[in-house]
Amino acid sequence: MLKLIEVARRASADEREYRQVFRYETEDASATVASALRELNDLPDLRDVDGNPASPIRWDCSCLQRKCGACAMLVNGVPRAACDARLSVLKGERVVLEPLRKFPVIADLMVDRSALFGRLRELGSWLEGEVELPARRSEMAYEASRCLQCGCCLEVCPNFSADGPFGGMATMVPLARLLAEATPQDRARLASAYREAVFGGCGKSLACRDVCPANIDISGLMARSNAAAVWRRW
Ligand code: SF4
Ligand code: SF4
Ligand code: FES
Repeated sequence: MLKLIEVARRASADEREYRQVFRYETEDASATVASALRELNDLPDLRDVDGNPASPIRWDCSCLQRKCGACAMLVNGVPRAACDARLSVLKGERVVLEPLRKFPVIADLMVDRSALFGRLRELGSWLEGEVELPARRSEMAYEASRCLQCGCCLEVCPNFSADGPFGGMATMVPLARLLAEATPQDRARLASAYREAVFGGCGKSLACRDVCPANIDISGLMARSNAAAVWRRW
């Protein structure tokens, strides 16, 4: 399999973006965008298709098993986990890789998602009391616990911006987990955070659901956490 990997590049946040295309060939039908980037960066003398020398491509990764969310990027314009994006199922020879556009770029495909984690901190998204998890809420807590905090859902959300008040699904899902696990001591505080950061801002188009790499049941979680935080049906 031969792919031409086009990468949006910039050495730092202050520089202008440019494109560089790399030739990548493999016999491995299970090769992913992540494995291609790793192999290209492992080359002792990385060059683009025109033979120009190239610096290693900067991108984030950790687990390489669709568990951590670090490798989220745009693959042919769609937000995805690079370690879950198989090259063999991407149509055409050219694969275009760009950084997520809702967050500041650090370099190449690396973005600074600290606004996402900062918002969760500002909202007080933690439990102060003990965990209380009756069986009827355990499924909701488990489903929400699968969130990678990758930010793919925010990329397609028309209502989310990194400096706006609406937290998007990357905020809703962790709050849904906490609402499921909270004792009455924590519920009112978390419900208030949910109403402030999630409920009023969501247009319910569910574009976010379609790109979630973890296939989280976003609509089901939203219905249950709306019931808990807004209608107080615990
Ligand atoms: S349902 Fe629509 S508005 Fe709500 S978080 Fe998802 S993409 Fe954004
Ligand atoms: S809800 Fe899905 S897309 Fe959004 S941050 Fe969590 S895992 Fe990523
Ligand atoms: S490297 Fe962890 S999800 Fe891709």
